[in-house]
Amino acid sequence: MSKQNKTHRGPTITVSHTPAAQEEATGLKAFIAGAAIAAVVGFSALSLSQAPYSTAPSGTASNADAQIAQGVGNGELKTATATKSNDTTKQTAAAGSTAQDNPTFSLVKAAYGKSLPPNLIKQGQNLFEENCQVCHQADAIGKPGVAPSLINDELLSISSDKFLLGTIRDGREDTGMPPFAHLGRSKAKAIVAFLRSHQTLPDRSAKVDAEPDAHGDPRLGRQWYDNICSTCHGIGGNGYEAGGTGTAIGLPGFLNKVSDGFLRETIKSGRSNTRMLGFQGPTAMANLTNQEIDDIIVYLRTLAK
Ligand code: HEC
Ligand code: HEC
Repeated sequence: MSKQNKTHRGPTITVSHTPAAQEEATGLKAFIAGAAIAAVVGFSALSLSQAPYSTAPSGTASNADAQIAQGVGNGELKTATATKSNDTTKQTAAAGSTAQDNPTFSLVKAAYGKSLPPNLIKQGQNLFEENCQVCHQADAIGKPGVAPSLINDELLSISSDKFLLGTIRDGREDTGMPPFAHLGRSKAKAIVAFLRSHQTLPDRSAKVDAEPDAHGDPRLGRQWYDNICSTCHGIGGNGYEAGGTGTAIGLPGFLNKVSDGFLRETIKSGRSNTRMLGFQGPTAMANLTNQEIDDIIVYLRTLAK
């Protein structure tokens, strides 16, 4: 990354998103077709949930397809289905979008909302509307290719205040997320209270951050990353820059602020109401084993060095 590249792209966000959308559609088409090919030729590593992309046309094989089929089928990658663990499936369900079906969680929501002073939430909302809404959209629901959702449960339940406040203060270098150090800590805290007022799952950030570090093979992780994740997050993980809808998960501005547990849980469960669908459990884009997910994390860590 060159020196003069180290700037924050300010709130010039009147860009057309057609290229990003097109890019991703093409990538996903390639991915889905690739996985289908892999399955047909007997490599059942990826069990795809087609539902969210049911409108994707079933494309003919392209170079990308061939590459994916090769990546999946070259014998170095184990099949995901064989070692799928029931435990993690359960965990994922608990943390994932099925939570709405569970009455326990709606009680938590009420309790959670009450524990935050309404005037603080209101102050945070005003500050959010002034400073953040232009990119993160009304109610912080996010917009593909512009800024991520800040209110989905998967993000909020694993994000510590330290992570949220630090990200607001420092922004993310080389991405569209500017630093807001000038707001000061108390205003930033009010914004976090506003975001948390949307939270329906208990805060488990301390537990997630205390998870063991990932151990694995970065070369295998890279293959998974390049074949699956790069479609949205870009080769090398520089995010929207690369034309996709995923954030810059290969840059230090993100990686230096999150634990391996945060990465692991996000990859497993995804983020509801976004294109990040998670890679374990019933709503998964594809099923990856715990080891394969750790391989990906170990690879991501090499990018920020
Ligand atoms: C000019 C557009 C823009 C503005 C204004 C902006 N953001 Fe962001 N924000 C982004 C982008 C783009 C990202 C994702 C960066 C990346 O690719 O990693 C992001 C990421 C984040 C994240 C990390 C979310 C995650 O999924 O890990 C948080 C938290 C956040 N922003 C909070 C805020 C808050 C709070 C404000 C207002 C004080 C704000 N942002 C203002 C563009 C913006
Ligand atoms: C279909 C597109 C897509 C694919 C494929 C995809 N992601 Fe994502 N990912 C996203 C989006 C979109 C977000 C941010 C959610 C939002 O916009 O609110 C995200 C968020 C993330 C985050 C959190 C980043 C942050 O800023 O907090 C991580 C970590 C992540 N993805 C890892 C992965 C990995 C690893 C893979 C491959 C195994 C992958 N993703 C595949 C779209 C995708």
